[in-house]
Amino acid sequence: MRIMKFLLLAAASAVSLNTAAARPAPAAASASLATEDPQVLARADALLARMTIEEKVGQLAQLFKIPVLPSVDDKVRSGQVGSLLFITDPAEANRLQKIAMTEARLKIPLLFGFDVLHGLKTIFPVPLGMAASFDPDVAEQAQSVAAREARAVGIGWTFGPMIDVARDPRWGRMVEGAGEDPFLGAAMARAQVRGFQGPRLGTPGHVIAGPKHFAGYGASPGGRDYDSLFVSDAELYNVYLPPFAAAVDAGAGNVMSAYMDFNDVPASASPRLLTDILRGELGFKGWVVSDANAIHSQVKQHFAADAGDAAVRAMKAGNDMEMALLAPAFATLADSVKAGKLPVETVDRSVRRILAAKIAMGLFEKPYADEAEAKRVLADPAHRATAERAAERSLVLLRNEGGLLPLAPGAHKKVAVIGPMADSPDDTVGPWAFVYDRDETVTLFEGVRDRLGRGASVQTAAGVQLARSFPSGLEMFQPPPPAWTAERRATEFQQAVKLAGDSDLIVLALGEARNQSGERASASDLRLPGEQIKLFEAVAATGKPFVVVLMNGRPLDLTGIVDRAPAILEGWYPGTRGGTALARALFGDINPGGKLPVTWPRSAGQVPIFYAHNRSQAPETQAQRYYDQPSSPLFAFGHGLSYTSFRIDTPVLDTPELKPAGRLTVSTTITNTGARAGDEVVQLYIHQRAGRASRPVRELRGFQRVTLAAGESRKISFTLDEASVKYWHSEERAWVIDPGTFDLWVGTDAKADLTTTFVVGGAPRTVAAR
Ligand code: BGC
Repeated sequence: MRIMKFLLLAAASAVSLNTAAARPAPAAASASLATEDPQVLARADALLARMTIEEKVGQLAQLFKIPVLPSVDDKVRSGQVGSLLFITDPAEANRLQKIAMTEARLKIPLLFGFDVLHGLKTIFPVPLGMAASFDPDVAEQAQSVAAREARAVGIGWTFGPMIDVARDPRWGRMVEGAGEDPFLGAAMARAQVRGFQGPRLGTPGHVIAGPKHFAGYGASPGGRDYDSLFVSDAELYNVYLPPFAAAVDAGAGNVMSAYMDFNDVPASASPRLLTDILRGELGFKGWVVSDANAIHSQVKQHFAADAGDAAVRAMKAGNDMEMALLAPAFATLADSVKAGKLPVETVDRSVRRILAAKIAMGLFEKPYADEAEAKRVLADPAHRATAERAAERSLVLLRNEGGLLPLAPGAHKKVAVIGPMADSPDDTVGPWAFVYDRDETVTLFEGVRDRLGRGASVQTAAGVQLARSFPSGLEMFQPPPPAWTAERRATEFQQAVKLAGDSDLIVLALGEARNQSGERASASDLRLPGEQIKLFEAVAATGKPFVVVLMNGRPLDLTGIVDRAPAILEGWYPGTRGGTALARALFGDINPGGKLPVTWPRSAGQVPIFYAHNRSQAPETQAQRYYDQPSSPLFAFGHGLSYTSFRIDTPVLDTPELKPAGRLTVSTTITNTGARAGDEVVQLYIHQRAGRASRPVRELRGFQRVTLAAGESRKISFTLDEASVKYWHSEERAWVIDPGTFDLWVGTDAKADLTTTFVVGGAPRTVAAR
């Protein structure tokens, strides 16, 4: 019946199109349309009916548009490309769009995509930092601002959020996601999709979200980027898929397939991943784009015989669009269809999905960016305010011996902000930021100087220079500054140490340069890169009071620092207003309340390390698995201190038993027992004591960030249901629930010790995925 209705609508539209113009009839009054809306599909089908196979294949191609590459104008004109990426100038987007809308035969608008990972012009903390806020609302607000800026310049689609669970900090791309935990990752994925897309795909001022990289990319062995990997079904379903399930549920219009071999099959050619799981099990209805050049890479990976073979296999697997640098492998698809190697229906299905997205985004009606409006949107001061708040929320106070922080603003007359991250706008915004404004980026030095005003002399010195010698692909867009000569290295170092000695307070800003974190930026050693330890030692040796601020995209090996630095504030890469937020935290205008979204190892030798591991046969030796260092992490997942203190009461359950299809409410009261306002993230963990599979020692199943005035108490509650206790069983190949006793903890990190138990009732059973 439904299908019948679609066909009728399609036929009706086709008639009007054939007799009217090439442009589909305008959408109904609705401000936003989903890609499954029958009206949208009917328009897509009507257009599809008029396309040649070459034009169809053109819609499946997405090309980079960057200065070093040849012009794409002719390809746009002849309908050989449907989407372009990396254009952030609205005038250039409009110029190309005009070719598509006036010179190409069918006048199908281009869809412009870009990596808007944590902001376009206004840069928010990197996603790992946003996850540290444990505040999905802040991530939603940030991405909604990012979407507004992107849409204003003509971008209709972001390759984000990046939602790969990452448990090995050697992997440089940990910075792009929400860390190690599938539950937190799912919450952040959901929030970011909502932020990017708004309530519905096509909402004005929003863009299509493209969660990536499907799937399991974060499991890269040894943290080596792009390496082939093996992921068991249990890990896939229980660890790597939950953020994608959440993103799909939130309505993500697009998904990007991953580069690497997944259990010996490139992810962009995996029918199991892209069709059986993504569409069949997760219910994804949008279109899948490959990662950059990943279809050609199938040949390099010795999977496909040639580009034609790769294209056919990717299409058959369910990879609808190819992101390519130059000549798309998908250009071969027209011949493959003609040669009978690929049914035209497979191509049609993919084209329909892409056209539906363009229609739902309103691109046929409003293909151009308003350049004057774009200027206004990019300059909106409210965006900077949102960035400042996001940065404030993402800060994690790792250590604060003797309550050194917060610093008293009037107490220090000569303040030095020292280190490679002290006054570097590029490193303050971090990786995956391209069109930010260096001048308006507030570095830590500027933040401290502005905060202290005339009351103190604030000076800065880098001391050491950080930069990778091996460039990452992205540096073609913005090369790092030239390396210092040996002579300059010595002078800069001495100047920094002298400045430290002359000061009465030092803020030491250490970390990783932005090109030492991100894609192709894996590291075998987690120690602070370059000569930073030497700088730390020289500064510490001055005997002057100092605090450490970190800017980095992964936990670092803090050996030699953690026990000598009285205070360490984790800033991640905090973004456009990072320096302001950090200074406000250092001087107590705000109270840091972020928490680690990742377990912090002592050294690279401990990784991968994550809290949700299974128990071993000798749990009593858990803390001493290595003979040369403790096997416990340096900081637990969820760790983060505050300038105040909290008490959490023993959790109370409304019922001791979670019955089949039932719910159980866990309540507790949290009290701010200190003298200043502050935030705490109350975390709830569970553990199944026995069942058909061994289950992790703890799993996060709830969290809430609360702000409390000094002395204030608040009752909070969490609800558990069957989704909280179900898990994928490898051998049964099903989602199962095991009855029995579960431990439950409520507290402020993954070591929380306030515990109780509950019982899961009923019989052992299998349950639906959702
Ligand atoms: C990355 C993607 C990104 C794409 C386009 C690739 O190398 O893996 O995450 O979206 O480039 O910039």
